[in-house]
Amino acid sequence: MIVILGKSGQLGRALQALLGGSAAALGHDEVNITDAAALNAALTRLQPEAVVNAAAYTAVDKAERDADAAFAVNARAPLYAAEYCAHEGIPLVHFSTDYVFSGEGSRPWTEEDPPAPLSLYGRSKLDGENAIRRRGGKHLIFRTSWLYDANGRNFLNTMLALGRTREEVKVVADQHGAPTYAPQLAQAAMAGLTAAMAQKEFPSGVYHLCHGGETTWHGFAEAIFAAAGRREALNVRKVTAIPSEAYPTPARRPHNSRLDCSKARKTLGILLPAWQEGLAACMEQKYGSAGHAAAGS
Ligand SMILES: NC(=O)c1ccc[n+]([C@@H]2O[C@H](COP(=O)([O-])OP(=O)(O)OC[C@H]3O[C@@H](n4cnc5c(N)ncnc54)[C@H](OP(=O)(O)O)[C@@H]3O)[C@@H](O)[C@H]2O)c1
Repeated sequence: MIVILGKSGQLGRALQALLGGSAAALGHDEVNITDAAALNAALTRLQPEAVVNAAAYTAVDKAERDADAAFAVNARAPLYAAEYCAHEGIPLVHFSTDYVFSGEGSRPWTEEDPPAPLSLYGRSKLDGENAIRRRGGKHLIFRTSWLYDANGRNFLNTMLALGRTREEVKVVADQHGAPTYAPQLAQAAMAGLTAAMAQKEFPSGVYHLCHGGETTWHGFAEAIFAAAGRREALNVRKVTAIPSEAYPTPARRPHNSRLDCSKARKTLGILLPAWQEGLAACMEQKYGSAGHAAAGS
């Protein structure tokens, strides 16, 4: 049995839906993963074959003034999970982010490229990666980008809420990356775990895993409005491209969030389709395949 940590998050929900009865999922109310003893006790009780950590402190801007909490969840808790897994000889699957990179240049980042996070969130996630690697047990760390699902608090649902009420929406057009649909990430990550467990030597390491192709937040917003506009009446008429400087946020974000995912394909045999396919699947989930309007989240 697999234990999922962070069951109420976007990825946690997707993992639960995918794994069903073959997993036990724990939420924040059941175990606070920053409490090493509580986490250890919960895992010891469940005796998993693998642990999948989908829990994280993901409020990127809030993290700038909440460093203690961000580092506790994103840096120290992954080490506690890694300690348990290494002690038991079982794999830990963990998730990280494109925000570990500086965002310079336009080439997709590989796992060999040196991270240089711009934000406190990025630093805390990088510390978590390093803690797991240093502990040295079996592990897969999947760095993904721009995660969303049909119901979460995410860019897609923020855009839909704006598009219902406003005629013009201004969106940042100088950050480049791939939006990643949580259910398809969950599926690929679990296929990667199965492939890794079948190998003679567990291929521990960091892997980039996001949808194929690239866009900007502006491009993603346009695609969201085009797809949703076929299913419900939106107010939005104009999607204006703006630079990051015109939308100041407490945390700086990378201009180049492109991830080169070839290592995951070569080593684990996993590859996500183009980001447009993820969006199409999400729209189907949100509105139903009949295409009738549904209530927003
Ligand atoms: N969202 C993105 O755009 C994005 C992009 C790249 C990478 N990632 C990474 O992908 C992974 C999944 O992200 P997501 O978007 O699914 O996250 P999410 O929706 O924010 O969910 C995170 C979950 O972690 C739980 N959690 C937080 N602190 C906890 C604690 N101390 N103990 C137990 N549970 C705790 C939260 O529960 P509460 O809400 O109850 O606290 C929440 O259910 C994370 O590793 C994230 O860093 C995300």
